[in-house]
Amino acid sequence: MPHNTMKDKIMVALDVNSQSEALAMRDTLSDSVGWLKVGLQLFVAEGPSLIADLSKTHKVFLDLKFHDIPNTVAQAIESAGALGVQMVNVHAGGGKPMLEAAAKAAKDFPGMLLIAVTVLTSDTMPKEQALAVALQRAKLAKDAGLDGVVCSVHEAAQIKETCGVNFITVTPGIRWGNQDTQDQQRIADPKMAVEHGSDYLVIGRPILQADSPKKAAEEAAAMMSQAKV
Ligand code: C5P
Repeated sequence: MPHNTMKDKIMVALDVNSQSEALAMRDTLSDSVGWLKVGLQLFVAEGPSLIADLSKTHKVFLDLKFHDIPNTVAQAIESAGALGVQMVNVHAGGGKPMLEAAAKAAKDFPGMLLIAVTVLTSDTMPKEQALAVALQRAKLAKDAGLDGVVCSVHEAAQIKETCGVNFITVTPGIRWGNQDTQDQQRIADPKMAVEHGSDYLVIGRPILQADSPKKAAEEAAAMMSQAKV
């Protein structure tokens, strides 16, 4: 598959401390990636005004992993929708009533995908157990009306098999070459991620900490385009 389709599947985790660093990284990467992911570190530091800036050039995934009682999560989803982001997530561990409340709130924002985190890719539980829990949580999310899940590449194919090909899989834990795994446990490279059915690859430190972040993003896209699918 061509390179330029692949860059639209890359979500760069903007795990930096300030608006100026985030915007500088956005400008460095420019159109070599399709999505920017804003997580806890950046959102707690800079808040909603940054989202408007980033949305001018890229799709934005607000990765705050809401995990609270149904009413609170539903209100938070409404607030995320009002920011105009294209993807937001909750933690599937919050249970079915919470997932249903989130899905109901997200219906008011048809341009925003709602995703559930299954098992963190940094979790140290054995792989077989992670697969079982991820599958069970993916089914729960699907039944509650969510659009997809965050999972590791190792679970993506089975989740697609169980929940259908249109059920979105977003996969962090991407590493290639001899990159440091850092705190991630269930890792895979960009080619393998696409071969296992990942719709979006979340990549943070392998791009942020590269000598040339743009080259690293392009290298990931090139590897993805070699996938046999
Ligand atoms: O730097 P690295 O590529 O490991 O970053 C992964 C990103 O994906 C981080 O922003 C992290 O918060 C996020 N993430 C994750 N595992 C999940 C959900 C999100 O690593 N299950």
